[in-house]
Amino acid sequence: MTVGAREADTFLFVPLDREQEVITVAEQGGPHRVGVIGGDGIGPDVVAEGLKVIDAAGVKLETVDYDLGGARYLRDGTILPDSILDEWRDLDALFLGAVGAPGVPPGVIERGLLLKMRFELDLYVNQRPFLLEPDVDMVVIRENTEGTYAGEGGFLRKDTPHEVATQGSVNTRMGVERCVRYAFDLAKSRPRQHLTLVHKTNVLTFAGDLWERAFNEVAAEYPDVATAYNHVDAACIYFVSDPGQYDVIVTDNLFGDILTDLGGAVSGGIGLASSANLNPAGTGPSMFEPVHGSAPDIAGQNKANPVAAILSAAMMLDFLGDTEAGDRIRRACADAPAGSTTEIGDAVAARLQGD
Ligand code: IPM
Ligand code: MG
Repeated sequence: MTVGAREADTFLFVPLDREQEVITVAEQGGPHRVGVIGGDGIGPDVVAEGLKVIDAAGVKLETVDYDLGGARYLRDGTILPDSILDEWRDLDALFLGAVGAPGVPPGVIERGLLLKMRFELDLYVNQRPFLLEPDVDMVVIRENTEGTYAGEGGFLRKDTPHEVATQGSVNTRMGVERCVRYAFDLAKSRPRQHLTLVHKTNVLTFAGDLWERAFNEVAAEYPDVATAYNHVDAACIYFVSDPGQYDVIVTDNLFGDILTDLGGAVSGGIGLASSANLNPAGTGPSMFEPVHGSAPDIAGQNKANPVAAILSAAMMLDFLGDTEAGDRIRRACADAPAGSTTEIGDAVAARLQGD
């Protein structure tokens, strides 16, 4: 399968070497090859439960472990060498627990590992579903490679009384459009067929204008999808007062970062919040991780809720083409009994084996 005409247009500004053949996993045959980064704190514990559940669902993976994160950085200064990035390009997916350790200066691992993965592997969609029956069933599609995260800005006259710091927001037509198009495709595939753009067009008049135009132009290609627009501050109120109104939401990187923590908080807590960092064009592996962090205070105590990691593993199977196994895992997680990390993983695995 090659990149279709529409996708090719979308990738107008992507370097030519990325316009390669997209080979689906099914076409490759054999088990999926997955890079596993347990990371720091509770990361390795919850990843182990995710892998246990995938196995119980009868899906065979070929896994390769990578020792990366805050602890590795403190040990020998390694963050994410290009040689590892190159190895990852041949994998089908990456499964990550959490990274971040006390003693690592803020931003080192975030920018050097997580954001480098997003940028270098072109993981331009961050998909975060929120489900709390009977009311909440929404998915936030967060643009994942641009906006304020792009790192544009700098200091003038640093460390003087007249210091200036700027932090720009980068919004390319290509980057916004491909994310918006992904959100429309997703909305079209869901029963409610509804998509809300969240931005701040009344103040961010340049970036907001580009987002609004891209959204409206792509909307014309999806007559079946009903659309709405909310300013991000109003969306924060609705997330709390009436989250049931949302189906799919598309928004920029920073708004999406903030809104998805709120989404977790109103739908059962961050211990259930799963996420996928996707390269829908298939030019590299996508990365799947729970939204929660490394929680070093409870590391190694068998206390962390593994459900967010297990649901992220289910998203990984969906993306690898095995939505049937993904659905079974999601059903097995519904009303998972309380318990320790391993007890919850065992209970979900047992339900799958009893299927
Ligand atoms: C997230 C996290 C990251 C982000 C941090 C750790 C860089 O908050 O995935 O939501 O801001 O994107
Ligand atoms: Mg966040």
